[in-house]
Amino acid sequence: MRRVVCPGSFDPVTNGHLDVISRAAVLHDEVVVAVFRNSNKTPLFSVDERVELLTEATSKIGNVRIDRFDGLIVDYCKANDISAIVKGLRAVTDFDYEMQMAQMNYNQAGVETLFVITNPLYAFLSSSLVKDFAKFGGDVSGLVPAIVLDRLTARLAEG
Ligand code: PNS
Repeated sequence: MRRVVCPGSFDPVTNGHLDVISRAAVLHDEVVVAVFRNSNKTPLFSVDERVELLTEATSKIGNVRIDRFDGLIVDYCKANDISAIVKGLRAVTDFDYEMQMAQMNYNQAGVETLFVITNPLYAFLSSSLVKDFAKFGGDVSGLVPAIVLDRLTARLAEG
């Protein structure tokens, strides 16, 4: 079985993430979407909430499973019989960091990284921008799944 992982913070999942996940799902037997638990960033949504939102947002894609992980992604890959990491590349600004990370992961553990070039519709999109714009009244309805929009609106209203 060809199993790959899409790792990330997913705080929250956007339509850009879903584009990469669904395209990876066409090319592989199983895609595990793994939420990174011990990020330095202060999240808006808990890991449980992010897993729930991802589960709902990917429910129509049959070969996608949601999980969570701590520590190194390469260790998660080895423990879960995952042959490659799939990442989206939005612009050249992503490239340097992603290339370095991919080379390190291959050097350390022989784990490959496959890149999907982001759909230009979402090339500018990030979870951080979605949160920033939503916080100040921006309309992000076309950029995230409906359930994320609902939760985001509710969370931001809590202050
Ligand atoms: O959505 P993000 O925050 O850009 O995702 C970043 C993520 C989780 C993919 C990246 O930080 C990662 O792979 N972290 C796992 C830990 C790891 O293997 N780090 C390697 C350098 S210490």
